[in-house]
Amino acid sequence: MSIATCPLVKRIAVLTGGGDCPGLNAVIRAVVLDALSCGMSVVGVEDGYLGLIENRIRDLGENDMVGILARGGTILGSNNKSNPSKFPVGQNPPPPLGDGKITYADVTGKCLDHLRARGVQAMVVIGGDGTMTSAATFSRMGLPVVGVPKTIDNDIQGTEITFGFQTAVDTATEAMDRCRTTADSHHRAMIVEVMGRNAGWIALHAGVASGADVILIPEIPFRMEPIYTKIIHRGKRGRKSTLVCVSEGAVPLGGAKIVARVDPTSPDPIRLGGVGKWLAEQIEEATGVESRYAVLGHVQRGGTPSASDRVLSTLLGNHAMKLLREGKVGRMVAVQHGRLTDIDLDEPAGRQRLVTPGDPLIEAARAVGTTFGD
Ligand code: F6P
Repeated sequence: MSIATCPLVKRIAVLTGGGDCPGLNAVIRAVVLDALSCGMSVVGVEDGYLGLIENRIRDLGENDMVGILARGGTILGSNNKSNPSKFPVGQNPPPPLGDGKITYADVTGKCLDHLRARGVQAMVVIGGDGTMTSAATFSRMGLPVVGVPKTIDNDIQGTEITFGFQTAVDTATEAMDRCRTTADSHHRAMIVEVMGRNAGWIALHAGVASGADVILIPEIPFRMEPIYTKIIHRGKRGRKSTLVCVSEGAVPLGGAKIVARVDPTSPDPIRLGGVGKWLAEQIEEATGVESRYAVLGHVQRGGTPSASDRVLSTLLGNHAMKLLREGKVGRMVAVQHGRLTDIDLDEPAGRQRLVTPGDPLIEAARAVGTTFGD
């Protein structure tokens, strides 16, 4: 799809969808200041697609951008539950009065009406795979859209890096460095559970950065024996502690992922969590080594973006605006082989970019004695 170049696009919208991550505001700033500088006006959609459905759209100006580069979260708000193609519009009474069934409707047309009423001619959508899927729907319906991928999980298909990831890795690394010193003092095994959904990128990178003795990721199902052996051998060699970095999606061979909660109102209802606690119990019982666990959770998603994420966010926001100006829409900005490029908005839909067993970082970690439990 192609649209007229910058002078003809007078008004754009910007939206942040899905779970937040550090660097969203830096992208918003890059997009808004670039747009204003070439004579466009900008509106911001509040709380992701929910705000678009509910017509919560506001003007954004230069003053709104002051001081947001280094601020975590998103000044627009976000939402990871609202899919305009399948939006809950009613629910039958719960048992015993009814079956509790939720009724869904396609409200994409309503969203487009809200944008048209504000004179919006194109939209920059910042989000993960779910957000891109909806963005692709709007694009097919005729709205020029450019996507910017975000997630701490770094699992978006078609791009080798997403902003927010490096900050999450830095946060997790610092937390594990801290866990190491207390584990040393008490001669314990310390298990640190990190986020990442079905992808082990955070665990792999933060585990290597903190010198974790054991790294467990969803892509490599683990057995307990190599972990026990590692802990016992370390004790025999006089090592004071063992640090285990486990991804929330890590799974024992032949077992299942541990689910912390199921949120039926979310398009992606499964929330993982609990494997760290489970591991600590198994390890203590089998080895006799006192074990503790820490779940880093949303600490990894919050706070100020790292310098590298601010830089990446600014580059991605700028590239999105370049695509808009060139009329290259229905595209998502991506990084491939270290270079900025763009891919079809549909490409990330329903897919995840996982760690491959041949990843050089896995090889490097094994070379320094790290166990992956396989
Ligand atoms: O996708 C980002 C992420 O932080 C995952 O790592 C995690 O599994 C999930 O979102 C948590 O979602 P919520 O904020 O809904 O609990």
